[in-house]
Formats: sequence, C-alpha cells, structure tokens
Amino acid sequence: MKKKEATLAELRAGIDRDSLPKHIAIIMDGNGRWAQRRGMPRVFGHKRGAERVRAVVEQCRKLGVEVLTLYAFSDENWRRPEKEVSFLMNMLGGYLRSEIATMKSNGIRFRTVGRTERLPKTAQQWVAKAIDETADNGGMVLNLALSYGGRGEILQAIRRMQDAGGIPADLSEQQFSAYLDTAGLPDPDLIIRTSGERRISNFLLWQAAYAELYFTEVFWPDFDEKQLLIALFDYQGRQRRFGLTGEQVDRSASSRSSR
Ligand code: IPE
Ligand code: IPE
Ligand code: MG
Repeated sequence: MKKKEATLAELRAGIDRDSLPKHIAIIMDGNGRWAQRRGMPRVFGHKRGAERVRAVVEQCRKLGVEVLTLYAFSDENWRRPEKEVSFLMNMLGGYLRSEIATMKSNGIRFRTVGRTERLPKTAQQWVAKAIDETADNGGMVLNLALSYGGRGEILQAIRRMQDAGGIPADLSEQQFSAYLDTAGLPDPDLIIRTSGERRISNFLLWQAAYAELYFTEVFWPDFDEKQLLIALFDYQGRQRRFGLTGEQVDRSASSRSSR
C-alpha cells in the first residue's frame, strides 16, 4: 500500500524548532524547464520563481532561520542569451524595489555575495539601497548570491589578503574565512537544490564543507512551504558527524541534554 503523504499540518508539527539549520542555502533551479513544460517562455518561470522567493523568505523568517542564502545568478549565467540576462537583471531591481519596505518592517538584513560590480547600474543601485536601508536590522539575514562563483570568491579572498598585507605562513581556516564574501556568516548547515540536478554549480565551495545536501525533483517555481518543511524534516533525520564516529556524537548529545 502506498504510504499516505504527510499533510502540511503534520509536517509543521513534526519539525523540531530547536534544531533547525541556522543557515539554509538554496540553489533555486528549474525555472526555465518549469515554464517550457507549460509551453511558456523561460522568463515566465523566472517571474514565478521570484514569487517563490518572497514566500520562502517569509517562511524561513517565521521559522527563526538566522541566515538564508539564495543563489539567484551565477557568474556563469552571464553566458545566457542577452534577453534572458536583461530580464533577470530587471527583475532583480524590481524585486528589491518592492521588497525593501517589507524587509525593513520584518527586521531582515539584506546582503549579497558575488561580483555585484558586474550588475547593471540600476540593479547595483537597488542592491546598495537594500543593504543600506536594512543595515541596522537584527532579524534574519537574507543573502543573495549575485554574479557569484565559489572559485572566483576564493581567488578574490586571496587577493584581498595579499592587498591587506600579505598571506601569513600560519594562516588558519578561520582567518581565511574572514576574507570571503560570506565573512561573519555561519557556514550553511543545509543546502537545497531544486529541479533534480545533483551538482553544486560553483556555489559556496569553501563554506559547504560540512553542509547537509538535499536534492529534490521539484522545480523552483513549485517549491512551497510544504517542500521546505519536507527538506527540513529530512535534514533533522540526519546525524551530522563532522568526522567523529556516530557513537561519539550520540554520547556528546546525551551529555549535553543531561547537563
Ligand atoms: C534557475 O533556473 C534560475 C537561474 C539560474 C537564474 P534556470 O533558469 O536555470 O532553469 P532551468 O535549469 O533552465 O530549468
Ligand atoms: C545554478 O543554476 C545557478 C542558479 C541557480 C542561480 P544553473 O542552472 O545555472 O546551473 P547549471 O548550469 O545547470 O549547473
Ligand atoms: Mg538551471
């Protein structure tokens, strides 16, 4: 017999609020295919995808997630047809323009990773305005990856260190992290990729070292609250070992809970 699918209410009740990922990162993939399957142009999927961004930001904020990183545009995406790129850039400006007020009233702090200097001027202005106007907020961090590539980010960090006085012989991982675009943010605990692709596509290469990976067949425009909760439920069923044995992890968890 086929197992009955959990309802939204059951999923909501099944999530342990005390062990949520602090930092969720999402590779929002499948907009183009979602639209094409409906006989629509790819950009139709991007539009619908932006609506999902609004909803997922709100859901993560309500759950109490500390950082949400969304891969919105990769450094490789510049190679797409010019019309699609300019549609995405206009949409980015429009999204920020319409969301700044909501971010302000919801305490969201906006920031970005990636080479935002490559964005068209108008988009850059909206990015700067969103960062500036939400800088004092203390709630969830919404981190957009824009013109982002993990390898490029690592090279850029090396250049920044060089410019700041050179690379110390005893450089630690922690010191190095402070030169990455994600400086000050915790590493992602959970990385979600939609659309059935099982690859990282140059996303958070350094930071993903111990992230839990979750892949779903669902296209980004269909990724709703239920899908998010299913991903969180899956995450909470895993044991994160960080190189230790399962027994060691169990022991330290039980000594923590009896303290
Ligand atoms: C993700 O959807 C959005 C961006 C990369 C900007 P895609 O546009 O990659 O959609 P598919 O993968 O072609 O379906
Ligand atoms: C990754 O998706 C980038 C974003 C989601 C913004 P792509 O669709 O560009 O990745 P590939 O090319 O399929 O690996
Ligand atoms: Mg894609």
